[in-house]
Amino acid sequence: MIQIKLPEEEIAGVPLRNHMLLAAGILGTTGASLKRMLNLGAGGVVTKSIGPKAIPGHHGPALIPVDGGLINAMGLPNPSKDFVEEIAPLKGEPVVVSIFGGTPEEFGTVASWFPDAAAFELNLSCPHAEGYGASIGVNPRVVRECTEIVKTYNKPVWVKLTPNVTDIKIIGKAAEEGGADAIVAVNTVKAMRISTELRRPVLGNVFGGLSGQAIFPIAVRSVYDLYDAVDIPIIGCGGISSADNVLEMMMAGASAVEIGSAIHDSVNIFSEIAADLYSKDGIPAEEIVGCAHV
Ligand code: FUM
Repeated sequence: MIQIKLPEEEIAGVPLRNHMLLAAGILGTTGASLKRMLNLGAGGVVTKSIGPKAIPGHHGPALIPVDGGLINAMGLPNPSKDFVEEIAPLKGEPVVVSIFGGTPEEFGTVASWFPDAAAFELNLSCPHAEGYGASIGVNPRVVRECTEIVKTYNKPVWVKLTPNVTDIKIIGKAAEEGGADAIVAVNTVKAMRISTELRRPVLGNVFGGLSGQAIFPIAVRSVYDLYDAVDIPIIGCGGISSADNVLEMMMAGASAVEIGSAIHDSVNIFSEIAADLYSKDGIPAEEIVGCAHV
């Protein structure tokens, strides 16, 4: 397996310590857990998605393990503006604040609360939150307008896309037109399970989002598609659990990656992958980003 060097420059406007970030939604609800993941080797962290009002999320069951991953239907539970205090001690760290809203104006309001964010990640892709996430993120005009308004806060803006669309390239281009600094591809794949014993859906919300190794090929395909369509960096996300997965994502076109569900198996996943991925004699990552394109 080839090895790469640590990044020497910012990636998509953020000074990452390595090419791997903690993905939104996993251990991202407290300042302490975000700091812990940085200490355990994450190159940067993305917070739990924060919205315009505090909400408890969907009723349970909200998370179920399935073959090859997890299905969650958390329902965007979040403390809203109270989260500003929670992450205040992390000022100066590579903390990307994930935000959501139901309109471009709500995205702007939430962004205005976080002047210390290293960047914003726009959640336009949660597949199970009525009025938020993918329910508005499938509309290219709305994606462009949300990106434009958050961009006025003079921070790097990353836009996280849903794979649950016919052509992800159209949505990626809309984000780029709105001024996005990066595309994050992808959020979870809309999914469900049914209890054959109870003859009912297992999740309290009926539908949820599938993450983990089962969706890795979907994420690779999405990154590969987007690399041909946009000129901004792409952050690969979806089922990454090994150094070889990181390299594959880079070859598809990713400049960095986010890791989420693999933390369920090992909280040390970042340092475990880094031990295999990096060498001081490695090649610059830029040499392999997109190299699989013919
Ligand atoms: O429900 C949740 O908090 C999940 C968010 C997402 O999939 O983006």
